[in-house]
Amino acid sequence: MGVLPGIDAAHPVILITGANTGIGRITALHLAKLGACMVLAGRDPQRTAPVVQEIQTLTGRADAARFLPLDLADLHSVRQAAQAFEAWGLPLHALINNAGVAGAKGQTRQGFELAFGTNHLGHFHLTQLLLPLLLKTPQSRVVTVASRAHLAALNGITWESLEQVTRSRFGITEYAVSKLANILFASELARRHASQGLLSYSLHPGVIKTEVWRHAPWWAQPLFALRRMKTPLEGAQTTLHCVLHASPEQNGLYFSNCQPRTPGDHASNPLLARQLWERSVAWTKDF
Ligand SMILES: NC(=O)c1ccc[n+]([C@@H]2O[C@H](COP(=O)([O-])OP(=O)(O)OC[C@H]3O[C@@H](n4cnc5c(N)ncnc54)[C@H](OP(=O)(O)O)[C@@H]3O)[C@@H](O)[C@H]2O)c1
Repeated sequence: MGVLPGIDAAHPVILITGANTGIGRITALHLAKLGACMVLAGRDPQRTAPVVQEIQTLTGRADAARFLPLDLADLHSVRQAAQAFEAWGLPLHALINNAGVAGAKGQTRQGFELAFGTNHLGHFHLTQLLLPLLLKTPQSRVVTVASRAHLAALNGITWESLEQVTRSRFGITEYAVSKLANILFASELARRHASQGLLSYSLHPGVIKTEVWRHAPWWAQPLFALRRMKTPLEGAQTTLHCVLHASPEQNGLYFSNCQPRTPGDHASNPLLARQLWERSVAWTKDF
């Protein structure tokens, strides 16, 4: 039996990326209140310190939150983060791949398109490096925050576009591809490691009022605020559901509104998932 359902049992350790703000912050707060020891992995200690403090104060436990330096846009930094985590000697009961960038243009330190490199490849590498630790706990979980925006990746993944700078005007196409990659990754992770007891889920959190599109040009910001947006508390619910309640029978599935949903055709393609996995291994193996 895994440790997470019902949580408090042994103060399970959960690593979450991008928890200094938005959906990740609320997710971390909630899980810490339930008894988890949260590791908040992010690139900015100053922006994360208030959340670490907030969690420690709310729970009255110093071990309820700690910061781990991690820049997902740099594969060296990802390895350093995994090594630093291992050096603490803690178990790892769940990994929440939550961080994400949208609407920013550029390339990661190793030359991958910024959204793909950060949202997919950084998390792929982190998960692979932490896998031996995850597998030590039966029914440990990897929960990957994807998006309904994956439906906008109409052509699936164009491999050549992944190793160049963001081309589309607002970065929406590249964001969609990165979120498609999140879903493919989560399902392939389950296919490869279910027999070892690992659980893996992906999800759409809803359309949530956060800072996620802050890198889009200022004059385009209203475009991203037209629809009614839910709160980060509402946005955290499906992640929490996947961490706390999704069952082994649902391993590998994509969730929305706390229910399994069938994602788009490309996201349901096991051949594409395998190809992405194999390429991701090749891209990250030297780091
Ligand atoms: N908001 C929505 O409507 C919506 C809809 C569907 C899916 N999602 C997904 O939900 C997840 C959480 O997003 P959010 O809405 O809560 O956005 P957010 O408030 O902008 O939070 C994003 C988090 O990701 C972190 N991050 C970005 N680049 C990083 C990097 N290179 N290395 C490490 N951390 C990095 C940010 O850290 P910094 O503060 O350092 O930038 C921040 O903590 C994302 O995966 C997003 O794609 C959001």
